[in-house]
Amino acid sequence: MHLDNSAHNPLEDIDKILVDETAIKKRIQELGAQITQTYQGRELAVIAIINGAIIFVADLIRELGLPIQLDCVRISSYRDEVIPIQAPEIIDKIRLDLKGLDVLVIDDILDSGSTLFRVVEILKAMNPASLKTCVLLDKNTTRTVDFEADFVGFQIPDEFVVGYGLDFAERYRQLPCIGVLRPELQNPPEWA
Ligand code: IMP
Ligand code: MG
Repeated sequence: MHLDNSAHNPLEDIDKILVDETAIKKRIQELGAQITQTYQGRELAVIAIINGAIIFVADLIRELGLPIQLDCVRISSYRDEVIPIQAPEIIDKIRLDLKGLDVLVIDDILDSGSTLFRVVEILKAMNPASLKTCVLLDKNTTRTVDFEADFVGFQIPDEFVVGYGLDFAERYRQLPCIGVLRPELQNPPEWA
């Protein structure tokens, strides 16, 4: 079991690749063009949900032909398990005053929907001029709340994925692709 970050390539822990680096890059260019067109002539306040969205947001904002302001919001709903064990909670608030701004909230993945649902609820209370959401990945079979994102990179099956910002216990975020972790690594006995 590779849990000590000793010298091995984290790609070895991937069972299969769902979205490769080339496909991600191409889709982000398309999303960038779509978002640029949607907000043409306006300035956009981009709110990244960290840590998961950092890689996606870093690449996506460089595909936008718009002036932007950037801030982050930190939410906690997963600990080190693959199953959410508590309701989403904001643990680091944004600094930007969103009143009257066009806001785009960006997350890595839409799963049950409870994270984005909650973040949108909180940000709407700040009276933005508009508020839309963008996710790289959408597991649209797993919703527990009625929520859809305005911009979606890829629809994926209900499997636990890592890479390109998505983690398991804060690991694997640096992988250039989106992959499914080998099953025996998803619930190591020492974390039970
Ligand atoms: P939701 O609240 O169930 O929609 O989950 C959204 C959050 O859960 C995301 O911001 C991710 O951090 C995390 N998440 C959901 N599914 C996965 C996955 O397959 N891999 C890694 N993180 C995930
Ligand atoms: Mg996470």
